[in-house]
Amino acid sequence: MSDAFGDDGLTRGTSERAARAEALRRAIREHDHRYYVLAAPTISDAGYDALFRELKDLESEDPSLITSDSPTQRLGPNIENSFAPAPHIVPMLSLDNAFSEGEIREFDARIRRTLNLAADMPVEYVAELKIDGLSISATYEQGALVRAATRGTGTVGEDITPNARTIRSLPLRLSDAILPAPSRIEVRGEALLSHDEFARINAENELSGASTFANPRNAAAGSLRQKDPGVTASRGLEVFLYASGAYEGEPLESQWSLLEAYRAWGLRVNPHSRVCASIDDVVVFIEEWAERRRTLPYDTDGIVVKVNSRSMQEALGSVSRSPRWAIAYKYPAEQVRTRVLDIVIQVGMSGALTPVAALAPVRVGGVSISRATLHNEDEIRRKDVRIGDTVVVQRAGEVIPEIVEVVRDARSGDETEFVMPEACPACGGAVGRAEGEAVLRCLNPACPEKARRRLRHFVSRAGMDIENLGGKRLDQLMDAELVRDPSDLYRLTMDDLVAIPRMGPALARGVLAAIDESRSRPLARFIYALGIRHVGARTAEILAESFGSVEALIDADEESLAAIDEIGAVIAAAIVDFFANPVHRDMALKLQDLGVRPVAPDRPDSASRLFAGKTFVFTGTLEAMTRPQAEARVKALGGKSSSSVSARTDYVVAGPGAGSKLEKARALEVTILEESEFLAMLERTPS
Ligand code: IVH
Repeated sequence: MSDAFGDDGLTRGTSERAARAEALRRAIREHDHRYYVLAAPTISDAGYDALFRELKDLESEDPSLITSDSPTQRLGPNIENSFAPAPHIVPMLSLDNAFSEGEIREFDARIRRTLNLAADMPVEYVAELKIDGLSISATYEQGALVRAATRGTGTVGEDITPNARTIRSLPLRLSDAILPAPSRIEVRGEALLSHDEFARINAENELSGASTFANPRNAAAGSLRQKDPGVTASRGLEVFLYASGAYEGEPLESQWSLLEAYRAWGLRVNPHSRVCASIDDVVVFIEEWAERRRTLPYDTDGIVVKVNSRSMQEALGSVSRSPRWAIAYKYPAEQVRTRVLDIVIQVGMSGALTPVAALAPVRVGGVSISRATLHNEDEIRRKDVRIGDTVVVQRAGEVIPEIVEVVRDARSGDETEFVMPEACPACGGAVGRAEGEAVLRCLNPACPEKARRRLRHFVSRAGMDIENLGGKRLDQLMDAELVRDPSDLYRLTMDDLVAIPRMGPALARGVLAAIDESRSRPLARFIYALGIRHVGARTAEILAESFGSVEALIDADEESLAAIDEIGAVIAAAIVDFFANPVHRDMALKLQDLGVRPVAPDRPDSASRLFAGKTFVFTGTLEAMTRPQAEARVKALGGKSSSSVSARTDYVVAGPGAGSKLEKARALEVTILEESEFLAMLERTPS
């Protein structure tokens, strides 16, 4: 292969070596594009490896040849992700949903009304698959990938550049071969994992005792938010790009021309998108993909319909968080029949006894289902579910499977009614129901199953996120009586761990390091991890912001808790109740003695308050965003915008065509910014 580049041996001069490195970079980039973007390679693996090795060798002989967009530099030198706040110059919007053909037609009618279109003038749309991954935004400057961020709140995401660089279908450099690349562009799309990769990762995690992911989407999110880009690189993430944010370049006249331009620049776009001449064609597309989408190697959860014309999009604009020119059609949840083999009781961390149906395994929406929660006894009676019944199950919102109904006609008469146990199936302790509650609970404070669940919750991803302590490994530690409550984790030693079957010193060190790392988790995670009833991740965040420390939360009374926005009387009572129990109180404090130091959030959040107290006036034409968008950004960062310039104005952002406001700003000596300077301010994040 190297002959094609005139390789003539070892005695090349510096400029020859530089030229050779550039030729290799181009060739490898081209082959990467063919392989990862077009799925149509034209070189053997061995041929590719030879090119890659040659480039690596050249670069290690002479490191000055290394460029940041070299294909060898996807995994940079030991750079960790900072997850620093990454403000989006143009916010990342979400989409309104439609659940029926009627709602899709109503969307079309709304657009025609808004645009005042004649009855016989159809609107052209682009129909795209709605990929079920997570949205990312990648910024290219002068053709080079300079930054990548998650969606986050839509206005501020997290910087995941080192991780995104490892995604092979995301080019490090845009191609200029067919169409000049824009000087600056934020390309947006979806990061995803294929079914095969998802299965592979879960199988690997299962083997190593780490916890498994519920679905490809969660696995993709977990893979993208790894501290170590090396782990992300091993996860086989892919992307499809379908939208843009800030843009400086030749104007793109339609969604379709955007997709075509992306293709030309070497960006991966989904091959199944289609221009539809009218809403009727959109409906046909939706019907066509209802079943066909199941044959794809990745998850989709609907169809995104976009007005094709850019000028129409601009005329339509956005409402709150979603554009008026696009909508997401969601397919109904897939329903499948199966049999209830048994009804078993699961004991939760609060002692709640939850009946769970053990099902004959079936595939629903791409995953195998063998359990479905029945919530409580009342629910079983209401649905009249019996052991042996044939039932209809569905995955609601692609999460926990549920039983929709019993197929009565399929009953043989041999079905048996389920009776709730009179004692806790885990510890044999007494059970009882609090007044007004449907849930039966184990009343034994020392129930081992409660402790097990509590611990699982504590180490879980949304909690203290202790890697390498998946279900099985934690069970081993509990069975060996090394760990009874969360505080025991922080007392574990190397000797304790290596005594566990199949735990070598390397793994043991990894577990200890992960436990150690969790000592400084954000306070919100710590509060969530305690497992207080009704305190989910969002409530935990509010509590962390309001109280700033565990001690302050422990001392809070019901009144002061209930006074907080979004915290009602029920949650307030549950928190007070939780800490009134000396076991919980002592545990929370004991953890601190063991060096667990949850980190309180900055108050006020410094990244999102970048413009606190500042007043902006926009005048003239903005290019990267509309004026309302710019104003929304200022507001999101804590500032104000005004339509007139006064001595109280801090900044005037002036674009082409600015008139009297600019003059007044000069007269009052108000700081005047060009749009590019304003954009640079948005990008700047406090350290
Ligand atoms: S367009 C302003 N196109 O769906 C346009 N989104 O429910 C914003 N998604 O946050 C999005 N496939 O993560 C668009 N072909 C597609 C999509 C798509 C998946 C996701 C995206 C977005 C969410 C909105």
